[in-house]
Amino acid sequence: MTAKYPDDTRLLIEAGLKKYFPKKRNPEVIYEAMSHSLFSGGKRFRAILVIEAAKLFGATAEEVMPTACAVEYIHTYSLIHDDLPAIDDDELRRGKPTCHILFGEAMAILAGDALFSEAFSLIASAQRAGDCGRIVDVVRELSSAAGVSGMVGGQVVDIISEGRGIDAATLEFIHENKTGALIKASVRAGSILAGASPSELTRLNSYAGYLGLAFQITDDVLDVVGDTEVLGKMAGSDVKLGKATYPSVYGLEEAKAMAESVVGRAKEALNGVAGDTAVLRNLADFVYERQF
Ligand code: IPE
Ligand code: IPE
Ligand code: MG
Ligand code: MG
Ligand code: MG
Repeated sequence: MTAKYPDDTRLLIEAGLKKYFPKKRNPEVIYEAMSHSLFSGGKRFRAILVIEAAKLFGATAEEVMPTACAVEYIHTYSLIHDDLPAIDDDELRRGKPTCHILFGEAMAILAGDALFSEAFSLIASAQRAGDCGRIVDVVRELSSAAGVSGMVGGQVVDIISEGRGIDAATLEFIHENKTGALIKASVRAGSILAGASPSELTRLNSYAGYLGLAFQITDDVLDVVGDTEVLGKMAGSDVKLGKATYPSVYGLEEAKAMAESVVGRAKEALNGVAGDTAVLRNLADFVYERQF
Protein backbone atom coordinates (compact mmCIF):
# COMPACT_ATOMS: atom_id res chain seq x y z
CA MET A 1 0.00 0.00 0.00
CA THR A 2 1.50 3.33 -1.00
CA ALA A 3 -1.47 5.69 -0.51
CA LYS A 4 -1.35 7.43 2.84
CA TYR A 5 -4.70 7.37 4.64
CA PRO A 6 -5.56 10.58 6.58
CA ASP A 7 -5.64 8.92 10.00
CA ASP A 8 -5.35 12.27 11.78
CA THR A 9 -8.68 13.31 10.24
CA ARG A 10 -10.18 9.89 11.00
CA LEU A 11 -9.29 10.34 14.69
CA LEU A 12 -10.90 13.78 14.74
CA ILE A 13 -14.06 12.18 13.33
CA GLU A 14 -14.05 9.49 16.05
CA ALA A 15 -13.96 12.29 18.63
CA GLY A 16 -16.69 14.21 16.78
CA LEU A 17 -18.94 11.16 16.67
CA LYS A 18 -18.54 10.67 20.43
CA LYS A 19 -19.22 14.34 21.09
CA TYR A 20 -22.41 14.53 19.03
CA PHE A 21 -23.93 11.11 19.69
CA PRO A 22 -27.25 11.64 21.53
CA LYS A 23 -27.26 10.98 25.29
CA LYS A 24 -28.72 7.61 26.21
CA ARG A 25 -32.24 7.85 27.55
CA ASN A 26 -35.37 5.73 27.66
CA PRO A 27 -35.54 3.34 25.74
CA GLU A 28 -31.83 2.66 26.19
CA VAL A 29 -31.72 -0.41 23.95
CA ILE A 30 -32.04 1.65 20.78
CA TYR A 31 -29.03 3.81 21.72
CA GLU A 32 -27.10 0.62 22.38
CA ALA A 33 -28.00 -0.80 18.97
CA MET A 34 -27.11 2.48 17.23
CA SER A 35 -23.81 2.86 19.03
CA HIS A 36 -22.86 -0.78 18.52
CA SER A 37 -22.88 -0.22 14.76
CA LEU A 38 -21.62 3.36 14.75
CA PHE A 39 -18.65 2.80 17.07
CA SER A 40 -17.47 -0.56 15.82
CA GLY A 41 -14.73 0.81 13.56
CA GLY A 42 -15.07 1.78 9.95
CA LYS A 43 -12.76 3.81 7.76
CA ARG A 44 -14.89 6.96 8.06
CA PHE A 45 -14.14 7.48 4.37
CA ARG A 46 -17.22 9.61 3.61
CA ALA A 47 -16.79 11.84 6.67
CA ILE A 48 -13.14 12.30 5.69
CA LEU A 49 -14.32 13.45 2.25
CA VAL A 50 -16.62 16.06 3.79
CA ILE A 51 -13.72 17.43 5.82
CA GLU A 52 -11.00 17.25 3.19
CA ALA A 53 -13.23 18.89 0.56
CA ALA A 54 -14.10 21.65 3.03
CA LYS A 55 -10.42 22.21 3.85
CA LEU A 56 -9.70 22.72 0.17
CA PHE A 57 -11.94 25.78 0.28
CA GLY A 58 -10.59 27.16 3.55
CA ALA A 59 -12.88 25.70 6.24
CA THR A 60 -11.61 23.74 9.24
CA ALA A 61 -12.50 20.16 10.22
CA GLU A 62 -14.26 21.42 13.31
CA GLU A 63 -16.47 23.77 11.30
CA VAL A 64 -17.97 20.97 9.22
CA MET A 65 -17.83 18.19 11.83
CA PRO A 66 -21.61 17.96 12.43
CA THR A 67 -22.16 17.33 8.72
CA ALA A 68 -19.24 14.88 8.54
CA CYS A 69 -20.74 12.93 11.47
CA ALA A 70 -24.20 13.07 9.91
CA VAL A 71 -22.83 11.45 6.77
CA GLU A 72 -21.38 8.64 8.92
CA TYR A 73 -24.81 8.18 10.55
CA ILE A 74 -26.41 7.83 7.10
CA HIS A 75 -23.70 5.41 5.96
CA THR A 76 -23.98 3.31 9.14
CA TYR A 77 -27.77 3.17 8.77
CA SER A 78 -27.28 1.91 5.22
CA LEU A 79 -24.92 -0.83 6.42
CA ILE A 80 -27.29 -1.99 9.18
CA HIS A 81 -30.15 -2.31 6.70
CA ASP A 82 -27.91 -3.77 3.97
CA ASP A 83 -26.92 -6.59 6.36
CA LEU A 84 -30.50 -7.53 7.29
CA PRO A 85 -31.75 -11.02 6.36
CA ALA A 86 -34.12 -9.51 3.77
CA ILE A 87 -31.27 -7.71 2.00
CA ASP A 88 -27.78 -9.29 2.12
CA ASP A 89 -28.20 -11.45 5.21
CA ASP A 90 -24.74 -10.84 6.66
CA GLU A 91 -23.66 -11.67 10.18
CA LEU A 92 -20.34 -9.86 10.37
CA ARG A 93 -19.66 -6.15 9.93
CA ARG A 94 -16.63 -4.10 10.94
CA GLY A 95 -15.29 -7.21 12.62
CA LYS A 96 -18.31 -7.55 14.93
CA PRO A 97 -21.68 -9.31 14.81
CA THR A 98 -24.15 -7.28 12.74
CA CYS A 99 -26.77 -5.20 14.50
CA HIS A 100 -29.62 -7.67 13.92
CA ILE A 101 -27.54 -10.58 15.22
CA LEU A 102 -27.02 -8.83 18.54
CA PHE A 103 -30.25 -6.86 18.91
CA GLY A 104 -32.75 -8.68 16.70
CA GLU A 105 -34.21 -7.64 13.37
CA ALA A 106 -36.81 -5.23 14.67
CA MET A 107 -34.27 -3.28 16.71
CA ALA A 108 -31.78 -3.24 13.80
CA ILE A 109 -34.42 -1.79 11.47
CA LEU A 110 -35.25 0.83 14.07
CA ALA A 111 -31.57 1.62 14.77
CA GLY A 112 -31.11 2.32 11.05
CA ASP A 113 -34.23 4.48 10.97
CA ALA A 114 -33.03 6.37 14.04
CA LEU A 115 -29.55 7.03 12.66
CA PHE A 116 -31.02 8.33 9.42
CA SER A 117 -33.28 10.77 11.19
CA GLU A 118 -30.62 11.77 13.76
CA ALA A 119 -28.34 12.66 10.84
CA PHE A 120 -30.59 15.48 9.72
CA SER A 121 -31.35 16.50 13.27
CA LEU A 122 -27.60 16.85 13.90
CA ILE A 123 -27.13 19.07 10.84
CA ALA A 124 -30.10 21.23 11.76
CA SER A 125 -29.03 21.65 15.37
CA ALA A 126 -25.22 21.80 15.26
CA GLN A 127 -24.03 22.77 11.78
CA ARG A 128 -23.18 26.44 12.26
CA ALA A 129 -20.49 27.21 9.68
CA GLY A 130 -22.00 27.92 6.28
CA ASP A 131 -25.00 30.25 6.17
CA CYS A 132 -28.56 28.90 6.27
CA GLY A 133 -28.76 28.76 2.47
CA ARG A 134 -25.68 26.53 2.27
CA ILE A 135 -26.95 24.29 5.06
CA VAL A 136 -30.26 23.81 3.23
CA ASP A 137 -28.27 22.97 0.09
CA VAL A 138 -26.37 20.31 2.05
CA VAL A 139 -29.62 18.83 3.38
CA ARG A 140 -30.91 18.65 -0.18
CA GLU A 141 -27.69 16.98 -1.40
CA LEU A 142 -27.61 14.36 1.34
CA SER A 143 -31.32 13.56 1.39
CA SER A 144 -31.43 13.15 -2.35
CA ALA A 145 -28.21 11.06 -2.42
CA ALA A 146 -29.65 8.74 0.22
CA GLY A 147 -33.09 8.44 -1.38
CA VAL A 148 -34.73 6.88 -4.41
CA SER A 149 -32.65 8.94 -6.83
CA GLY A 150 -29.49 7.69 -5.07
CA MET A 151 -28.66 4.99 -2.55
CA VAL A 152 -32.13 3.49 -2.13
CA GLY A 153 -32.61 3.39 -5.90
CA GLY A 154 -29.27 1.61 -6.28
CA GLN A 155 -30.10 -0.88 -3.54
CA VAL A 156 -33.44 -1.64 -5.22
CA VAL A 157 -31.77 -2.49 -8.51
CA ASP A 158 -29.04 -4.45 -6.64
CA ILE A 159 -31.77 -6.61 -5.08
CA ILE A 160 -33.86 -7.16 -8.20
CA SER A 161 -30.73 -8.03 -10.19
CA GLU A 162 -29.70 -10.90 -7.88
CA GLY A 163 -29.23 -14.11 -9.80
CA ARG A 164 -29.89 -12.49 -13.17
CA GLY A 165 -27.61 -11.56 -16.02
CA ILE A 166 -27.52 -7.76 -16.31
CA ASP A 167 -26.00 -5.38 -18.83
CA ALA A 168 -23.08 -3.03 -18.24
CA ALA A 169 -25.28 0.07 -17.96
CA THR A 170 -27.42 -1.50 -15.23
CA LEU A 171 -24.33 -2.56 -13.31
CA GLU A 172 -22.94 0.97 -13.48
CA PHE A 173 -26.32 2.33 -12.38
CA ILE A 174 -26.30 0.09 -9.30
CA HIS A 175 -22.80 1.12 -8.26
CA GLU A 176 -23.16 4.82 -8.96
CA ASN A 177 -26.34 4.91 -6.93
CA LYS A 178 -26.04 2.45 -4.06
CA THR A 179 -22.53 3.65 -3.18
CA GLY A 180 -21.45 6.46 -5.49
CA ALA A 181 -24.25 8.86 -4.64
CA LEU A 182 -23.38 9.27 -0.95
CA ILE A 183 -19.66 9.50 -1.70
CA LYS A 184 -20.31 12.22 -4.26
CA ALA A 185 -22.66 14.06 -1.90
CA SER A 186 -20.00 13.95 0.84
CA VAL A 187 -17.49 15.78 -1.36
CA ARG A 188 -20.17 18.23 -2.45
CA ALA A 189 -21.42 18.87 1.09
CA GLY A 190 -17.97 19.79 2.42
CA SER A 191 -17.34 22.01 -0.59
CA ILE A 192 -20.70 23.75 -0.35
CA LEU A 193 -20.33 24.50 3.37
CA ALA A 194 -16.89 26.00 2.76
CA GLY A 195 -18.23 28.25 0.00
CA ALA A 196 -17.01 26.60 -3.20
CA SER A 197 -18.25 28.40 -6.31
CA PRO A 198 -20.55 26.62 -8.79
CA SER A 199 -17.66 26.14 -11.22
CA GLU A 200 -15.41 24.70 -8.51
CA LEU A 201 -18.24 22.35 -7.53
CA THR A 202 -18.61 21.18 -11.11
CA ARG A 203 -14.92 20.31 -11.30
CA LEU A 204 -15.00 18.37 -8.03
CA ASN A 205 -18.19 16.64 -9.05
CA SER A 206 -16.39 14.70 -11.72
CA TYR A 207 -13.68 13.57 -9.24
CA ALA A 208 -16.32 12.52 -6.73
CA GLY A 209 -18.36 10.60 -9.31
CA TYR A 210 -15.38 8.51 -10.42
CA LEU A 211 -14.28 8.02 -6.82
CA GLY A 212 -17.68 6.62 -5.83
CA LEU A 213 -17.85 4.22 -8.76
CA ALA A 214 -14.30 3.01 -8.14
CA PHE A 215 -15.04 2.53 -4.44
CA GLN A 216 -17.77 0.00 -5.19
CA ILE A 217 -15.79 -1.77 -7.93
CA THR A 218 -13.02 -2.33 -5.37
CA ASP A 219 -15.60 -3.46 -2.82
CA ASP A 220 -16.73 -6.10 -5.33
CA VAL A 221 -13.13 -7.15 -6.02
CA LEU A 222 -12.42 -7.45 -2.28
CA ASP A 223 -15.46 -9.69 -1.87
CA VAL A 224 -13.63 -12.12 -4.18
CA VAL A 225 -9.97 -11.71 -3.21
CA GLY A 226 -10.22 -10.17 0.28
CA ASP A 227 -9.69 -11.77 3.63
CA THR A 228 -12.65 -11.92 6.02
CA GLU A 229 -10.39 -11.06 9.00
CA VAL A 230 -9.01 -7.95 7.30
CA LEU A 231 -12.30 -6.93 5.66
CA GLY A 232 -14.24 -7.24 8.92
CA LYS A 233 -17.09 -8.67 6.82
CA MET A 234 -17.64 -12.02 5.17
CA ALA A 235 -15.73 -12.46 1.91
CA GLY A 236 -17.62 -14.39 -0.77
CA SER A 237 -20.99 -12.96 0.21
CA ASP A 238 -21.71 -11.59 -3.30
CA VAL A 239 -21.08 -14.91 -5.03
CA LYS A 240 -23.34 -16.68 -2.54
CA LEU A 241 -26.18 -14.27 -3.35
CA GLY A 242 -25.59 -14.14 -7.10
CA LYS A 243 -25.01 -10.37 -6.90
CA ALA A 244 -24.39 -8.28 -9.99
CA THR A 245 -20.78 -7.20 -9.50
CA TYR A 246 -17.87 -6.07 -11.67
CA PRO A 247 -16.03 -9.40 -11.26
CA SER A 248 -19.21 -11.36 -12.09
CA VAL A 249 -19.85 -9.36 -15.25
CA TYR A 250 -16.29 -8.62 -16.45
CA GLY A 251 -14.12 -11.18 -14.66
CA LEU A 252 -11.73 -10.44 -11.79
CA GLU A 253 -8.74 -9.12 -13.72
CA GLU A 254 -10.83 -6.83 -15.91
CA ALA A 255 -12.68 -5.54 -12.83
CA LYS A 256 -9.36 -4.66 -11.17
CA ALA A 257 -8.18 -2.90 -14.32
CA MET A 258 -11.45 -0.95 -14.48
CA ALA A 259 -11.08 0.16 -10.86
CA GLU A 260 -7.57 1.40 -11.62
CA SER A 261 -8.68 3.25 -14.72
CA VAL A 262 -11.66 4.90 -12.97
CA VAL A 263 -9.33 6.01 -10.14
CA GLY A 264 -7.04 7.46 -12.81
CA ARG A 265 -9.96 9.45 -14.18
CA ALA A 266 -10.79 10.71 -10.69
CA LYS A 267 -7.25 12.03 -10.29
CA GLU A 268 -7.28 13.57 -13.76
CA ALA A 269 -10.45 15.43 -12.84
CA LEU A 270 -8.50 17.08 -10.01
CA ASN A 271 -6.13 18.68 -12.48
CA GLY A 272 -8.58 21.52 -13.03
CA VAL A 273 -9.07 22.14 -9.30
CA ALA A 274 -7.05 24.94 -7.68
CA GLY A 275 -5.44 24.51 -4.25
CA ASP A 276 -3.71 21.61 -2.55
CA THR A 277 -5.46 18.47 -3.76
CA ALA A 278 -2.80 16.05 -2.44
CA VAL A 279 -5.10 14.46 0.17
CA LEU A 280 -7.92 13.97 -2.34
CA ARG A 281 -5.44 12.36 -4.75
CA ASN A 282 -4.22 10.05 -2.00
CA LEU A 283 -7.79 9.08 -1.19
CA ALA A 284 -8.29 8.12 -4.82
CA ASP A 285 -5.17 5.92 -4.72
CA PHE A 286 -6.40 4.41 -1.48
CA VAL A 287 -9.67 3.42 -3.15
CA TYR A 288 -7.77 1.27 -5.62
CA GLU A 289 -5.11 -0.08 -3.25
CA ARG A 290 -7.23 -0.74 -0.18
CA GLN A 291 -7.36 -4.20 1.36
CA PHE A 292 -10.44 -3.48 3.54
C1 IPE B 1 -18.97 -0.53 2.79
O1 IPE B 1 -18.48 0.76 2.96
C2 IPE B 1 -20.24 -0.50 2.03
C3 IPE B 1 -20.16 0.11 0.72
C4 IPE B 1 -20.95 1.07 0.37
C5 IPE B 1 -19.22 -0.39 -0.26
P1 IPE B 1 -17.05 1.02 3.61
O2 IPE B 1 -16.03 0.15 2.96
O3 IPE B 1 -16.79 2.48 3.62
O4 IPE B 1 -17.27 0.49 5.11
P2 IPE B 1 -16.70 1.04 6.49
O5 IPE B 1 -17.46 2.26 6.84
O6 IPE B 1 -15.23 1.31 6.34
O7 IPE B 1 -16.98 -0.08 7.46
C1 IPE C 1 -23.57 -1.76 0.00
O1 IPE C 1 -23.08 -2.54 -1.02
C2 IPE C 1 -24.21 -0.51 -0.43
C3 IPE C 1 -24.92 0.12 0.69
C4 IPE C 1 -24.81 -0.26 1.93
C5 IPE C 1 -25.79 1.20 0.39
P1 IPE C 1 -22.59 -3.96 -0.53
O2 IPE C 1 -23.71 -4.81 -0.10
O3 IPE C 1 -21.64 -4.50 -1.54
O4 IPE C 1 -21.72 -3.55 0.78
P2 IPE C 1 -21.02 -4.60 1.72
O5 IPE C 1 -20.10 -5.42 0.88
O6 IPE C 1 -22.11 -5.41 2.36
O7 IPE C 1 -20.26 -3.74 2.69
MG1 MG D 1 -25.73 -4.98 -0.54
MG1 MG E 1 -23.87 -6.07 1.63
MG1 MG F 1 -19.89 -5.55 -1.08
